[in-house]
Amino acid sequence: METELSTLTDRILSLKQEKRAVILAHNYQIPQIQDIADFIGDSLELSRISKKTEAEMIVFCGVQFMAETAKILSPKRKVILPVIEAGCPLADFITPEQLIELKGKYPDAWVVSYVNTSAPIKALSDVCCTSANAITVVKNIPAKKVIFVPDRNLGWWVQKHLPKKEIINWDGYCIVHEQFKIGDLEQARSLHPDAEVIVHPECPSDILESSDYVLSTAGTMKRAKESKNLKFIIGTEEGLIYRLKKENPKKEFYSLGNSRTCLNMKRTTLLDLCAALENERFLINLDEDIIKKARIALERMVKYG
Ligand code: 13P
Ligand code: SF4
Repeated sequence: METELSTLTDRILSLKQEKRAVILAHNYQIPQIQDIADFIGDSLELSRISKKTEAEMIVFCGVQFMAETAKILSPKRKVILPVIEAGCPLADFITPEQLIELKGKYPDAWVVSYVNTSAPIKALSDVCCTSANAITVVKNIPAKKVIFVPDRNLGWWVQKHLPKKEIINWDGYCIVHEQFKIGDLEQARSLHPDAEVIVHPECPSDILESSDYVLSTAGTMKRAKESKNLKFIIGTEEGLIYRLKKENPKKEFYSLGNSRTCLNMKRTTLLDLCAALENERFLINLDEDIIKKARIALERMVKYG
């Protein structure tokens, strides 16, 4: 079994060299994928790497919107998503038709779309944001009225920090983070009263309000590393807890309530990664016009974020 694994790992590493590829993995990927990736990170970090990489091929171990974002930022490179069905149900909460209708209702508002959206939604947006920079982006854009799509919890969190802005918040949510309940937080605090509580902004708003920190997955990694505290209660997907434990072996990490799994993030296996490199599949292809428009929204994110 171990030999099989090392043969597979060796094959992936040699194909990676042969194809001049870079392997990017989101923080929620399974441990074996995290362990073999060149870079692991949150949406913002991985999109920055996609933009500046000199590799000929970007193999994105994550979900559709992440690979699409890499393609938009690096249109000349081959961008590959090993499991093409790996989607994000949060991104599916809003369709282009719904966004066009909303824009018609609020013509003077700026559309800020969370990066967890399809490429056509980004193309219809004025600017994008991630969980790491949403507040800063909304604060800095020259608009008081903002259509925020599709995550209602992140939208709520932004509105709470920027009371002078008027946020028209779309009613979407992440089916994974929505499962965390305020009762889980109360129970976790009573079990570990000296632990710091860090949650992702996709958690329900009552949890956001009662936590010590609300951070992106990369923000959580950074805080856990820098904090003098030795115990942490983490409100996000279990893949991040694997990475937190691996990189901070002297600290303790507990999931807020039962550990939660994003099944789409867990679809990619080492076999899929190997097949992806071998057969150059599945290539992300986007309409030129969509790329051009979506790129403006992503570049504005850098400007305002
Ligand atoms: P991050 O950008 O914080 O990693 O979040 C992405 C995501 O899909 C969270 O569910
Ligand atoms: Fe989408 Fe939620 Fe999975 Fe993140 S955890 S990829 S928002 S479904």
